[in-house]
Order: sequence, then structure tokens, then C-alpha cells
Amino acid sequence: MTDNPTVYVTRTIPEVGLDRLRERFEVVVRDEKLPPTKDHVVSRLAELDAEGLVCLLSDEIDAAVLDASPDLSVVSTFSVGCDHVDLAAASARGIAVGHTPGVLTETTADLAWALLMTCARRTVEGHAYVADDEWETWGPTLLTGPDVHDATLGIIGLGNIGTATARRAAGFDMDVRYSGRSRKPEREDELAEFGIDATYVDRDELLAESDFVSLHVPLTEATAGLVDEAALRRMSEDAILVNTSRGEVVDTDALDAALATGEIARAGLDVTDPEPLPADHPLLRHAPERLVVTPHIGSASTETRNEMAEMVAACTEAGIDGEPLPHSALRDAGME
Ligand code: GLV
Repeated sequence: MTDNPTVYVTRTIPEVGLDRLRERFEVVVRDEKLPPTKDHVVSRLAELDAEGLVCLLSDEIDAAVLDASPDLSVVSTFSVGCDHVDLAAASARGIAVGHTPGVLTETTADLAWALLMTCARRTVEGHAYVADDEWETWGPTLLTGPDVHDATLGIIGLGNIGTATARRAAGFDMDVRYSGRSRKPEREDELAEFGIDATYVDRDELLAESDFVSLHVPLTEATAGLVDEAALRRMSEDAILVNTSRGEVVDTDALDAALATGEIARAGLDVTDPEPLPADHPLLRHAPERLVVTPHIGSASTETRNEMAEMVAACTEAGIDGEPLPHSALRDAGME
């Protein structure tokens, strides 16, 4: 061990971030596939007198973790979402919290579109059909689905990722609506530059009128269970739901029922509740005809994950140096 401050990393992140951290710090990486228990993190932070903690969205960072090492000055999460970090507890203790906004916006919007397209054009079913040797001839009604072009796209939560998802609709001549806590004229202007006339509507109207509903809200007390039984009932029976935000935004049982009764046509989920979704979960009986699930890979392009690793390292450095973080979750949450 050197005299350099110690940074504990709960699971390995792209090398570019670790290399940068190693230039200045003693870096201890827990090289395991599965997340650590909270007790494990607490005891490692205490043993190491760690000044920095690099964590993932699968780690719960609460008061017990924040109190584990008296020297802890920064938690840097390899994610934009911070619902797994007790921000109020960090703020009360003067512990900085870094995250990775911006860099994953376009990559996550790409995945929302991948799910939207695959649900509409039934590509996963198509692949299974071929792989299962069912493809005997060209079929006039084989695997038909709705058109994407000229359809109505409803965005719930017109933040960075919601706006990037909406922007992609320009290539498909779609009618774009959005809902959220308030109207966002600056986002409307941004989209207008791409020829998109994004209309602010209330959520019920959006649900009733959209062919595709894409969710882009952070997980908060107000958004947990936002897509519940009543919301799903408002959607058209031909509608497709896409979720790349957080699994808990959708009531899983209500979605299961809506898919079973045909209240909505299909769902494409990159996030689920629970997460991971076990293969024997009842929801998966709808796959792939009504449901396509990917394992929370919204930001998973090589370039984006490398940039996220660099951002995590930059936030850790700033936190240990007592400097303002380049990407502070506390500042973004209005707690700084
Ligand atoms: C992914 O979900 C993230 O929050 O970065």
C-alpha cells in the first residue's frame, strides 16, 4: 500500500477509468460478477479507510455505507440514475456524489428505438421463427405489425433522454406528444429545429392517443408505479409500451394483466421490477409475441461505457481533492 488515498470499486468498470484512478489512488477493485452485499461494502470501506467509493446502480448506498469509513469524501456511481443512493444522507454528511449524465443520452435513446422497432416489426419473433425451422414460405400476413412511420409517439418525461428519443422520430414523420410535470418550451424549441412539433398534453391524453409510449422519467416517489392498471387501461389495445427508465415506474402485475388480456399490444422493456427478472417470472410467458426484454443495457455501447468510466474517475478525483464535481448528483438534485 502507498500513502495515496484509497478508492474502493464495488465491481470492475472499463479499464480506462481504473487506469485513470490508479494514477493517483490506491484502487481496490472487487473483481466479482455479482453485486456485493451491503455488509460487504461497509466492511471493506471500513477496513480500507476508503476516501472514495465507486459503485454501480445495483449497489444500495445508504447511511450505513456512507458512515462506514470516516474518511469517505465521495461516492461516484457508474450510472446517470441515483435512486440507489441516499442523496439526502450524503448531503447531510458532506459526502459528494458523482454520476454520469449526458454521455449516455444518445446511446439510451438508440436502445429505446431498438425496442420500439423490434416490438412493432416483431424481429425477435421473426428470428425465433427462422431458428425454429418454421419458415416454409413467404406469407402474406406473416408477422405483420403496425407501421412506425406516421404513427404517434408519446414521451413521458421530456428530459435529456426523452428529448433524444423524440428527436429520432423526425426520420419517421411521427406525431410527437409529451407529458411531464410542466411544459418545456426550450425542449420544444430544440425539437422544432428537427422539424418536430412536440405537443404538451396531459398524461391521460398521451396514453389514450399514442401508438408508442416511451418512458423517460427518473425513479422517484412520484413516478414509482406511474404506469399502473388505470394508465394501461387508457392505452389503445394496439399500443406499444417501451421502458428504458427504471422498472419500478411500471406496475409489473398490472402490465402482466394488460398483456394477458390484450389491453395493450406489446411491451419492450430494458428495465424491470424485479431486476434481474428471473427466467421463470410470470411476465416472461408473454415473450416474444407480446414482450421483449433486454437486461438493462440502455447505455451499453463500448464508447459510452468507456466515457462513463472516465467520468466516474474524474468525479472521484474532484471529490477526494475537495473540488466541485464535474457531474454532481447533489447539484443536479438541488441539494448543493
Ligand atoms: C442506467 O440506467 C443509468 O442510470 O445509468
